[in-house]
Amino acid sequence: MRILVTGGAGFIGSHIVDQLIDHRWDVTVIDNLSTGLKSNLNKKARFIPMDIRSTQVLELFRESCFDYVIHQAAQTMVPRSLKEPLYDCDVNILGTVTILEACRLTGVKKIIFASSAAVYGDAVAVPINEGAMTCPSSFYGLSKLVIEKYLPLYYQQFGLEYAALRYANVYGERQGDAGEGGVISIFIRQICAKRPVEIFGDGGQTRDFIYVGDIAAANVAAVTATSPEGLYNIGTQTETSINELITIMGKITGQDVEVRYCPARQGDIYRSALDHSAAVSLLGWQTKTRLYEGLERTYLSLV
Ligand SMILES: NC(=O)c1ccc[n+]([C@@H]2O[C@H](COP(=O)([O-])OP(=O)(O)OC[C@H]3O[C@@H](n4cnc5c(N)ncnc54)[C@H](O)[C@@H]3O)[C@@H](O)[C@H]2O)c1
Repeated sequence: MRILVTGGAGFIGSHIVDQLIDHRWDVTVIDNLSTGLKSNLNKKARFIPMDIRSTQVLELFRESCFDYVIHQAAQTMVPRSLKEPLYDCDVNILGTVTILEACRLTGVKKIIFASSAAVYGDAVAVPINEGAMTCPSSFYGLSKLVIEKYLPLYYQQFGLEYAALRYANVYGERQGDAGEGGVISIFIRQICAKRPVEIFGDGGQTRDFIYVGDIAAANVAAVTATSPEGLYNIGTQTETSINELITIMGKITGQDVEVRYCPARQGDIYRSALDHSAAVSLLGWQTKTRLYEGLERTYLSLV
């Protein structure tokens, strides 16, 4: 089976590639290395430096006859989407439609799309299930929601099967500081440098932190799932406040962590945790890594 991972040099994409290679898939990666790193790339994958918006995308699909596509490449920064909505739209909407078109024109069987809990905005009831109202508070969240609307139409009109995975806040080895879940690597670096940890808001805001290996496993499960289409929350179903996170990190690093509270950021949601029962029952997927264990691994990879 031939599979393409866009953004496979990035944090999550590179872990997906590793798991696919472990499953002995034939893996190709395209990535423009805007935030991804060559050093993240699995040597057993074929790497093609390419922008998802490029006209060469269709040529590559024609030559390679991919069976499946796992689409991770994106502009991933919420604040950047508010400062540069045009760039966010260009990469996350037009770039993704470029990939969808290449899938359609070359008979790809299924696409797995990296969506986000950011589509929900400030949810009223937590944990949030897939039927909850979507009300993104950033252009990043909106761009993910727009693609979620394209997918069923591509399925209805052209038979392109899909799964959209709404990730919670992902953390783990190889994480950069800039994306959605980047808060953990930022905190670890600040703690290691014995600098005060900067928290935007009062620290009572909660997130659903999920280990990257569990996210990669959800993508692998979605490829082989028998359901032709679906929308799945991929999270732990647990809320952890930023203040709680700091306490755990203090234990892992063995340090007294000094905290500096800064004004809350525009577009940030207050509470988040995802109901993952659909993914458990329909994808046969489960979270395996507990927060303490995942944070410890992340810490050890950074020191
Ligand atoms: N990290 C999280 O907590 C989180 C949460 C929800 C959703 N997501 C989604 O998961 C996916 C992966 O995110 P990540 O955290 O690994 O971020 P990342 O920045 O590490 O990975 C994105 C990859 O895409 C590549 N890329 C960006 N623009 C590109 C373009 N125009 N053409 C080709 N490649 C391009 C980057 O170089 C990078 O390797 C994204 O779609 C993101 O929106 C992430």
